[in-house]
Amino acid sequence: MPFVSVNDVNVWYGKNQALRSISLEIPKNCIYALIGPSGCGKTTLLRSINRLNDFIPGFKLEGKLEIDGTDAYKRGDHVFAEKLRRNIGMVFQHTNPLPMTIMQNMLLPLKEHYKGDKQKMEALALEKLRQVAIYDEVRDRLHKSALMLSGGQQQRLCIARALMLEPKLLLMDEPCSALDPISTYKIEELLQSLKKDYTIVIVTHNMEQATRISDYTAFFYCGELIETGETLELFSRPQKELTQNYLTGRI
Ligand SMILES: Nc1ncnc2c1ncn2[C@@H]1O[C@H](COP(=O)(O)OP(=O)(O)O)[C@@H](O)[C@H]1O
Ligand SMILES: [Mg+2]
Repeated sequence: MPFVSVNDVNVWYGKNQALRSISLEIPKNCIYALIGPSGCGKTTLLRSINRLNDFIPGFKLEGKLEIDGTDAYKRGDHVFAEKLRRNIGMVFQHTNPLPMTIMQNMLLPLKEHYKGDKQKMEALALEKLRQVAIYDEVRDRLHKSALMLSGGQQQRLCIARALMLEPKLLLMDEPCSALDPISTYKIEELLQSLKKDYTIVIVTHNMEQATRISDYTAFFYCGELIETGETLELFSRPQKELTQNYLTGRI
């Protein structure tokens, strides 16, 4: 059974249709890349999965979107959406640590959702910092401002923070597009190590990145899913002319 299953999904912002009859299946424990020119609906799909678009006035979704067998839109209420969101980690293009210490940033997701004992929560934070391979770089400044970290470190901190609530699914919207090549490489390495525990959906503008790290790729164009398949297959033998044109830089 796929972990995320999107079936004939249409999305509108007011009168403007952003996604047209999208169907795709995301298997568990894989990295699934969404590619396509800007404005084609990648972010819209990503934010429809965790219902972040609910906050946008005029947003409307039709079709079926299931996560781990549960209909993500079966209830329209806030409580259901909030619970769903809690089980999904999200990382954005612009790193967004809050202006507080590294540790405070890490504990932020927990504070909102449950009150555990502080020692336990801090131990979990350290475990997550280790998991994203940043612990050694920050161990001496856990109680200093997170804003002192480099861009790449901030992004790994944001990934660690997203893992604090033990999500099964991690959504990433161009997480490396503001980073230098070395930081990008570190994040890519990290994602490879995370996929054994998480299912990762990543929007990327960087096609080399998609080929380096993803197992599956979906190519979007003007709100439509043109083609999806195993990454190596899609890049080496695209079935559609549009895909071929995009991959060879003719779009
Ligand atoms: N908050 C919004 N309100 C209205 N229209 C939006 C909003 N966000 C995106 N859109 C529109 O939806 C379409 C898809 O955008 P988006 O999903 O951001 O594309 P991508 O991430 O591929 O660049 C675009 O036409 C865009 O203008
Ligand atoms: Mg986008």
